Amino acid sequence: MSAEQLYPVPQDFACNALIDDEQYQQMYQASIDDPEGFWAGQATRLSWMRPFRKVKRTSFDDHNVDINWFVDGHLNVSANCLDRHLAERGDQVAIIWEADEPGESRSITYRELHRDVCRFADVLKRQGVAQGDVVTIYMPMIPEAAVAMLACTRIGAVHSVVFAGFSPEALAGRILDCKSNLVITADEGRRGGRSIPLKVNVDEALTNPEIKSVERVIVVRRTGADIRWHEHRDRDYTVLMEQADDFCPPDPMDSEAPLFILYTSGSTGKPKGIMHTTAGYLLYAALTHQYVFDYQPGEVYWCTADIGWVTGHSYTLYGPLANGATTVMFEGIPNYPDVTRLAQIIDKHKVSILYTAPTAIRSMMALGKAAVEGADGSSLRLLGSVGEPINPEAWHWYYETVGQSRCPIVDTWWQTETGGILITPLPGATALKPGSATRPFFGVQPALVDNLGNVLEGATEGNLVLLDSWPGQSRSIWGDHERFVETYFKTFKGTYFTGDGARRDEDGYYWITGRVDDVLNVSGHRMGTAEVESALVAHRHVAEAAVVGVPHDLKGQGIYVYVTLIEGVEPSEQLRQELRQWVRREIGPIATPDCIQWAPGLPKTRSGKIMRRILRKIAVGEYEGLGDISTLAEPGVVEDLINEHRAMM
Ligand code: WTA
Repeated sequence: MSAEQLYPVPQDFACNALIDDEQYQQMYQASIDDPEGFWAGQATRLSWMRPFRKVKRTSFDDHNVDINWFVDGHLNVSANCLDRHLAERGDQVAIIWEADEPGESRSITYRELHRDVCRFADVLKRQGVAQGDVVTIYMPMIPEAAVAMLACTRIGAVHSVVFAGFSPEALAGRILDCKSNLVITADEGRRGGRSIPLKVNVDEALTNPEIKSVERVIVVRRTGADIRWHEHRDRDYTVLMEQADDFCPPDPMDSEAPLFILYTSGSTGKPKGIMHTTAGYLLYAALTHQYVFDYQPGEVYWCTADIGWVTGHSYTLYGPLANGATTVMFEGIPNYPDVTRLAQIIDKHKVSILYTAPTAIRSMMALGKAAVEGADGSSLRLLGSVGEPINPEAWHWYYETVGQSRCPIVDTWWQTETGGILITPLPGATALKPGSATRPFFGVQPALVDNLGNVLEGATEGNLVLLDSWPGQSRSIWGDHERFVETYFKTFKGTYFTGDGARRDEDGYYWITGRVDDVLNVSGHRMGTAEVESALVAHRHVAEAAVVGVPHDLKGQGIYVYVTLIEGVEPSEQLRQELRQWVRREIGPIATPDCIQWAPGLPKTRSGKIMRRILRKIAVGEYEGLGDISTLAEPGVVEDLINEHRAMM
C-alpha cells in the first residue's frame, strides 16, 4: 500500500467513534460466523409487537429464491420511527426542512411529526386505503412527503414514491404497474427557483385510458398555484387533515409485509418495481445509518438525496428517524441561488454529517473554492458520498475544501435493491483510500467472479456478487418474481449479481468500477439504455436507436445516442432538438441526450444484436481497436459511423 494514498482514521475522530478497527473486525467476523446470533442481537434495536420465531430463512437457489428475515415477527415502521421516541425526545427536532428559497425553513419535532402522521394515516383510512394497497407519492421535497410515507407504513399501505422530476408518461407507467388507487401530490414543486407543475403532470398521467385504479388524488398546497380541480377525484390535504383524528394506532405488520416499491432501471425492458419489506429493511437502514455515519445523539445529519430515490428513503428518512436523529430535508439544489448554498445550509443548521453525491461535488468543484466562500463549516465532522464512483480529484476537493482536511469521507456503495449500504468505510475504523468504497459492512459477503462464475481470490478484478442474504435486501420485483430471479440470481448461480464490476486490492479493499450491464449512471441516476431507446423509437421519425454512456465531467456519464431515421426523413438540427425534447417529455429531464449522432445503419451481429462495444468506442473517438468487425452483418456501417462522428467533432 503506498503511504500517500492512505488516510488513517484521525486521532480525535477515533477517540469518540462508535466502532474502532478492532471492533469492526470482531463484529464482522461474528456476523459471518453466526449470522443468526448476530442479527438476533441487532434486532433488539427495534420495538416488536410480536417476537420473531426465526432470524433468517433465505435461499439464493435460482429454482427457489426466497428471502425471509425475522420470520413471524410483528412490528410497525412508523411506531419505530416516531412513537417510541416520544417519551425521551418528543420535543427534539426530527426534521429540519430547508426550502428552495434561502431564508425559509421549518423545524418539526418528533411529537409534531407523530401527530401529523397519525392524522394523515387516519385520512388515508377514511379515504378507503387498506393494508396492502399501493399509494403513489409524487411530491416535492417537503415535510408532507415524509408524513405521507410514514402514514402509509402506519396502516400497512405500500408506498411507491415516484421522483417528482419524472414525466407524466413515466408516472403513468409506474401507476399502471402497481395499480395504485390513490395518488398524493402537490400543486407545484419548487426547485432551483423554478416551479414544477406536479398536479398538471398527475392530471395528464391519469388521462392514460389504461389506468383504471386511481380513485383519489390528494393535493398538498405548496405554492398556491391555480390548478384544475376534479371534484369527484381530487381532495385538499389541508382540509382532510383538519377533519382527521389526532391519534391513529399503528397496525402490527408482519416482518415480511411489503413496505414500499421503488421503480428503478435495469438493462432491459421498462423500470422494475423493487419491493422492500418491513423488518429487515428498517433494521438494516437503522443499523447502517448509525454505524456508517457514526451518528451520535443530538447531531444534525443531512443527506441531500431526494425521497424519490432509495437514498432518500433509507438515509433521509427511515434510517435517521428509526435512530431518533435530526434529519435535514432540503427542497432545492446545491447551486441555487448560487454555489455557496450547501455551505450556507451547513452553517445555518450546524450540520455535523453531510451525505451527498459525486455529481454535486463535481459541480461545486468546477468553481474552485467559491462553493465555501465566506462559510465557516466548523460544525462538520463527517462526509459521505453515494451513487456513483467518486473520482480521486473530486474526493480530494471534497476532503480538503468542504471537510477542511479534518472530516473522514465514507464512500458508500449500494443499490436500490440492497436497501442499505453494503460496502463502506466505518469512519472510526477504516483507513481511507480516495476512490475506494473499502470494506463490507456487517453481514455482507461480497465476492468477485469471472464471466463463468468462478470465484476469484486475492487482489483481482471481476463481477461483483454477494454470496448470502442481508436483512435489507429486496425480496422481489412487484408482481414479477420470475423477473427478479432472472435479473439477479441466474447470471452467477447461487449468488446475487449486482450488475457492477469491481477490483479488490492487496488490502482487501473494493473499488467499484461501474456497471457491467447496459445501465447508465447519469449524475448518480440510474437509467437503462433500453428505456431511452424505446422512448426514441416511439417518435414517428425514428426507425431505430442505440444509446451508450460516455464519460462526462460533471454528470459522470453522459447519454450518447445513435439514431437511424425512417426512409425519406432528412436529418436536421431542428430534428435533433426535437428528439432531445421528446426524450425529456417521455422520461424526464434527467434522461435528456447529451449528443445525438445520425446513423444510417447500426453495427449488428448476423443475429441482429447491436454491438454496443463498437458504439461506445466511436462515441469517444476511439476508432482503432474496435475488435473483430468481420462478424457484423454489414461491416461497412462502422466506417460510415466513424466518418459521421469525425464530422460532428
Ligand atoms: C452505483 C444508489 C460506485 C453502482 C444508492 C450501483 C456506486 C448503482 C456507488 C446503484 C459508489 C452507487 N461507488 N458506484 N459509492 N454507489 N453506485 O440503485 O453502479 O440508484 O449499482 O442506488 O449506483 O444505483 P441506485
